[in-house]
Amino acid sequence: MPFTLPLFPEAASTMAGRVDALYFYLLAVSAFFTVLIFVMVLAFAVRYRRSRHPVPVEIEGSMPLEIAWSVIPLGLAMVMFVWGASVFFALNRPPRGALEIYAVGKQWMWKFQHLDGHREINQLHVPVGRDVKLTMISQDVIHSFYVPAFRVKQDVLPGRYTTVWFQATKPGSYHLFCAEYCGTSHSGMIGQVVVLEPAQYQLWLAGGAGEGSLAAGGQKLFRDLACDTCHRGDTGARGPDLAGLFGKPVTLQAGNKVVADESYIRESIVNPAGKVVFGYQPIMPTFQGQISEEGLLQLLAYIKSLEASKTAVPAPAAAPPVPAVPETRKTR
Ligand code: CUA
Repeated sequence: MPFTLPLFPEAASTMAGRVDALYFYLLAVSAFFTVLIFVMVLAFAVRYRRSRHPVPVEIEGSMPLEIAWSVIPLGLAMVMFVWGASVFFALNRPPRGALEIYAVGKQWMWKFQHLDGHREINQLHVPVGRDVKLTMISQDVIHSFYVPAFRVKQDVLPGRYTTVWFQATKPGSYHLFCAEYCGTSHSGMIGQVVVLEPAQYQLWLAGGAGEGSLAAGGQKLFRDLACDTCHRGDTGARGPDLAGLFGKPVTLQAGNKVVADESYIRESIVNPAGKVVFGYQPIMPTFQGQISEEGLLQLLAYIKSLEASKTAVPAPAAAPPVPAVPETRKTR
């Protein structure tokens, strides 16, 4: 709906209309009852004023009244609940095939990394008409990614990935705010989401990413940190094979399973002893504090990009019992 009230942010995403409709419903219900209550207060004040002092008739119980004031609010609240839940789920479940972008919040800026290796600060370029999913983390305190024109807001937390998704419907430049008080320059932690036509977006992409893709950056880190000495994918490797790991269930030492998602992979790097894969020794050193959040996201992109090895070896994730290798770790 074309809304030009200057108090109201522009609507520029596929979810904006749904969020607004729910908002107007809440507003209408609140306004209706506010007006009703005030009108009643005034009407009764006039009708039963002291100079006329008519004595009101006392009512002793009324089934229709009881039912009316129970059932009507219940109905109104259930509409809020079901409608709100459906919008909430739609906002919180990124569609498959969305364009993946990674974001790191810090005091006091937004840093974005695109899969092709483009990096931006306080600016985010996205194509119009395409689902975009942001995987976000903070390297210090809690921030919140807020784009009013898209009607999306999601807290960005230290030590934990959160996601937000949107599909922009109109090319243009939209405000990006931090919506969680995060220190002295919180109000300066602002930026822009620049929505481009597909052709312009391709042009922007072609404008030189510099250092190769995000996954390639991760691969380089993987080698530099010597991860590949243990995570090699052959039998006898001291660490689990990471090929084809992402999104698959992993059996842990205690016999329970976890899905190898973003959080699991991040935890396995910064706190490897937390969830040791069944059949392996807890020999991996922690990398806590040694890799930046951006580096961790690069490693994540690299691990996600690893296809399951096409060689005959059965996937180790499914058949973990590699013989427990005695502690023969060399010093790095
Ligand atoms: Cu970051 Cu407020």
